[in-house]
Amino acid sequence: MALARLYNRSLQRKSIFPHPFHLCRSLSTIMAPSATSSVTNGASKANTTSLIHRTPWTPPIAISAEGLYVTLEDNRRVLDAVGGAAVACIGASNLHVKQAIKDQLDRLPYVYSMQLSNEPAEKLAKVLTASGSGAFDLVGFVSGGSEAMEGVIKLARQYYEEIGQLQRKNFIARKLSYHGNTVATLALAYHPSRRAPYEAILDHDNFHHVSPAFAKRFQLPDETEEQYVLRLQKELEDKFIELGPDTVIGFVAETVVGASTGCCPAPKGYFKAMKEVCDKYGALFILDEVMSGMGRMGTLHAWESFGDGVAPDIQAVAKGLGGGYASIGAVLMNKRVADGLRGKSGFWKHGHTYQSHPLACAASLAVQEVIESDNLLENCRKQGAYLEKLLNERLRGPNALAAPYTFDVRGGGLFWGIEFDFTSPDARKVDLKGKAFAMEVQARALEKSLIIMGMTGGSNLAGDRGDHLMLCPAYNITKEEVEKIVDIFVASVEEVLQANFV
Ligand SMILES: Cc1ncc(COP(=O)(O)O)c(C=O)c1O
Repeated sequence: MALARLYNRSLQRKSIFPHPFHLCRSLSTIMAPSATSSVTNGASKANTTSLIHRTPWTPPIAISAEGLYVTLEDNRRVLDAVGGAAVACIGASNLHVKQAIKDQLDRLPYVYSMQLSNEPAEKLAKVLTASGSGAFDLVGFVSGGSEAMEGVIKLARQYYEEIGQLQRKNFIARKLSYHGNTVATLALAYHPSRRAPYEAILDHDNFHHVSPAFAKRFQLPDETEEQYVLRLQKELEDKFIELGPDTVIGFVAETVVGASTGCCPAPKGYFKAMKEVCDKYGALFILDEVMSGMGRMGTLHAWESFGDGVAPDIQAVAKGLGGGYASIGAVLMNKRVADGLRGKSGFWKHGHTYQSHPLACAASLAVQEVIESDNLLENCRKQGAYLEKLLNERLRGPNALAAPYTFDVRGGGLFWGIEFDFTSPDARKVDLKGKAFAMEVQARALEKSLIIMGMTGGSNLAGDRGDHLMLCPAYNITKEEVEKIVDIFVASVEEVLQANFV
C-alpha cells in the first residue's frame, strides 16, 4: 500500500492531527517517511487500533523475535539492523536472560524502593561500580533514558544543594543534542524539531547551549582538529563567564551523539578540554550514554574509547543496560558526588514507583552476564570494523552509485551513521521533490525486510537540513548478518537514488 494513501487515511481517521503538513515535517525526524513518499512503510490494518502511535500511520505488529530477526503479523521475518533504537544488544530470546526473568518473577516481582531493596538491584549496582576502572561509587536505577537524564539533572542540583552552593542553577548542554523527551530533558538538550511544539513551556532560564562537537560540518576549513577543540573549549568557558562561573551546575554531553546528528563522535581531545573548564570552575562534567553506552562503542562505557578516557562525575545509561528485555535506566555518580550526598542527607532525593524494579534489574544483570561470558564487546568491535569497511567500499568505492552523495560514514563499535548530501555541484542531480532521502531509504529497506533508522535535520544548527541513517545492530551479530545488512542497505540507497535522478 502506498504510504501517501495510508498517511492520508491515517490523518482522516485521527482528527487529533489537524495540520498534516506541519506534522509531516516534524515527524520526519522521528523516523517517518515523508507524506509524499512513493514507497511503503510496511504499515498494516489502518482502522483497527485503539493505541495512539508515534507515527501518522499504524505500524506493522511484531509477533515474535529470535536473535536479530523479528517476525511480523503477516509472517514476514525482518532483520533488525538498529536493535529497535540501539537497544537490543544481545538479540531477542536469549535463554539465560529469559530464565533469569522467570526465576525473579517466581521469587519476587516487585518491592517499593523506599521500603525495601532487592537482590538483583544490589548486584547490578555492584557490576556498574566495578566497571570503568572504578569511576563510579553509587548507582540509582530508573525506568529508561529520559528518566535517567531527569535523575541526572536533579542529582546534580541536589549535590550543590547538599554542599551549600545554592547559587548553582545553570546547566550548559549542546545544540543538536538529545537527552530525552520529558519537559526538562527537552529543555536541557537542543533537538530543534523535538523541542518545537513545546518551546513555549520549556525552561530557558536554567538550560543553556553551546556548539555541537561535529567536525565534519562545523570545523572550519583552515582549522586543525586541535584548533577546533580549543575554539569549542573557549566557547564553553565564555558561556561559564557569561552566566557567572559559580552559577553553573555542569556541562552535559552525549559521549557519541545519537539521534540528532547520527552516531557522531567528538574530535580527539574534546572531552578532556571540556572537563578542564568544568574543573576550573568547580562544576560537574556529565555524560549522557543512554544510547552510546553499555558496550555500544565496543567498550562498556563510551568515554573509555571515544571520550579521551575521561570519566564523568555523573553519567546516565539505559538502552544497552537491559538490552530490550527490561525497561531500565541508571544514574552513575563518582565519589565526589556520592560523598557530597553522604556528607549531608545521605540519600537520593529523587524517586519513582518503579525505581530499582527487581524484574528489570534481574533481566539487566543477565544481559550484562551474557555480554561478558560471550565476549560480545570484542565481537562488537570486530563486526563494527567490518561493517565500516563494507559501507565505505560499497558506498564510496570507485564505481559506487552513491559515492557522490555519501557525505560521511561515522561512528564506532556497532553504532554507525551514514550521512548523505546532495549539494555537490559535480554530481548527477537528484530531485527528491520535497521528500526526505533518509526516510525514503528507511521505507525502501523495510520493504526488503530490513529495519534501519532514518533521521533528518542533523546537519545544520536550525535542524532543518540533513539526511542520515543509523545502523546499530546487536553485539552478537555474525559476519553473514553484517553482509546482509550492507547488501540491503546499499540496494535501498541506490534504488532511491535511481528513482529520483533528474
Ligand atoms: C542520548 C539519549 N539520551 C536520552 C534518551 C532518552 O531515552 P528514552 O527514550 O529511553 O527515554 C535517548 C533516547 O534515544 C538518547 O539517545
